[in-house]
Amino acid sequence: ASRGFFVGGNWKMNGNKESLGELITTLNTASLHDQTEVVCAAPSIYLDFARSSLDPKIGVAAQNCYKVAKGAFTGEISPAMIKDCGADWVVLGHSERRHVFGESDELIGQKVAHALESGLGVIACIGEKLEEREAGTTEEVVYAQTKVIADNVKDWGKVVLAYEPVWAIGTGKTATPDQAQEVHEKLRSWLRANVSDDVADSVRIIYGGSVTGANCRELASQADVDGFLVGGASLKPEFVDIINARA
Ligand code: G3H
Repeated sequence: ASRGFFVGGNWKMNGNKESLGELITTLNTASLHDQTEVVCAAPSIYLDFARSSLDPKIGVAAQNCYKVAKGAFTGEISPAMIKDCGADWVVLGHSERRHVFGESDELIGQKVAHALESGLGVIACIGEKLEEREAGTTEEVVYAQTKVIADNVKDWGKVVLAYEPVWAIGTGKTATPDQAQEVHEKLRSWLRANVSDDVADSVRIIYGGSVTGANCRELASQADVDGFLVGGASLKPEFVDIINARA
């Protein structure tokens, strides 16, 4: 595919300045494919630290943000604050935000709209739960989640769609390359039918869920897999192998 490879590392609520500092040194000194766009999603309290320590060629993302610019919303952060820390991206709709913190599709849509209007790039996450896959409703679920995101996007140039089956996140149960390709292809067809050919051809659809140094190459070779959103393995030196997964 002509789409540039995109690899996000989602640190989630892990690490401290010492361990993240070591990871950052590893990334800064590694030889990374220069065609691959790399973004690390840091805990919000470490955004400044991550941005000032990471090589400028590596992007920084927040893991969440709120839907308005400022105000009486104790504990929240705004896209403006993320940008003020020098970060250019935000992860929205992550499965843990949806299922641990109960974020609705509607709220995620509002966040996507505000983050994009504020000038951030958005890594928008979707994915079915195990019971949904077993009930045969995967397509229905991911199309509905994608529709809410799409309804809130004007400029797709700043959106990366992350397909993360919930059953694969942090479980060691990675989707097979065929399973990932099947859903990615369907998502691209959905974009073709509901947005435009241009968007379907250009939007990066990345896979997340137990990606490792060992399984990344075969996944990366699938036609519609344009990169990864990596959790656990993004905290380890093998993240470098995942960044370099595309031959
Ligand atoms: O955002 C990343 C995903 O939740 C994947 O996490 O690689 O630890 O399974 P994982």
